[in-house]
Amino acid sequence: MTTCKVSLHGDLSANAALALCDQLETINPVPLSVSCFEAAGGVWHVEAFHEDTVAAHRFVDNARATAKGAGCTELDVEALGETDWVAVTQRNLRPVVAGPFFVHGAHDRARAAGRRLALEIDAQVAFGTAHHATTVGCLRALARLADQRRHRRVLDLGCGTGILAIAMARLLPNADILATDIDPSAIEIARTNCRINRVGQRVRVLLAAGIEHPSLRARPRFDLVVANILAGPLTTLAKPLAARLSPDADLVLSGILATQSARVEAAYRAAGFKLATRSKLEEWVTLVLQRRI
Ligand SMILES: C[S@@+](CC[C@H](N)C(=O)[O-])C[C@H]1O[C@@H](n2cnc3c(N)ncnc32)[C@H](O)[C@@H]1O
Repeated sequence: MTTCKVSLHGDLSANAALALCDQLETINPVPLSVSCFEAAGGVWHVEAFHEDTVAAHRFVDNARATAKGAGCTELDVEALGETDWVAVTQRNLRPVVAGPFFVHGAHDRARAAGRRLALEIDAQVAFGTAHHATTVGCLRALARLADQRRHRRVLDLGCGTGILAIAMARLLPNADILATDIDPSAIEIARTNCRINRVGQRVRVLLAAGIEHPSLRARPRFDLVVANILAGPLTTLAKPLAARLSPDADLVLSGILATQSARVEAAYRAAGFKLATRSKLEEWVTLVLQRRI
């Protein structure tokens, strides 16, 4: 596809650039992507991408007043030719702050320098860049649990990119960590991300559906499990999961719509869990449950 870049020039602060990005995402024709980045001298630049020059020029006409209001004096259009859209998507993914974590792509590595809980996760075919409320809910819940207790045997069930397993490796330096997924491409990506985040030696990544896998059954029982899947499979997993957890284990569940939470909670109560916390972000709920037998 031949794409066009619209550059918006002005003396913008980081906050002004981020606010302008949000506004530009609503202007017609809606850009394929909008991004901002810090240039020399601490000045921020904003760019919007379109599929062709016609769309780009129409966008410039419609965005001119908004850009001027934000402090941009000039807008120009540049034809880029063929575009690698995976690379563009990765570059445009903005960092996310989730609890104590700073989740960023490779293009923002410099901004993450010096942060203890920085997680480098690029957009890929697997789920889990912290741009979804369920992942953020899990990251926050895991950080709160790590303040209370040092878990030793942990499982990230449905690991996607491996983000939650990597987060647990950072929070729990002595834990033995297993990450599983039903999808072979997620397994590849999670392994790569573990290496990039320098926890490849500490996190074992395994292709497995649910909890019934010989390698899972052979392990000592887990004292912490996080599973961001969906309400249906989570409900089915309540009893098998309970059987693989130590008597005082903690469990973090997400991927549950607020309207589905009561059903999931009832299934876990029946399997011997007590609800510790229920938090809602957008329409998604994250549950922290404790096994008490
Ligand atoms: C919503 S993503 C969560 C990814 C990541 N843990 C996060 O929180 O961002 C759910 C993941 O669970 C995997 N999955 C779904 N059902 C599963 C099952 N029964 N057993 C293992 N993995 C499963 C999917 O392939 C997907 O990668």
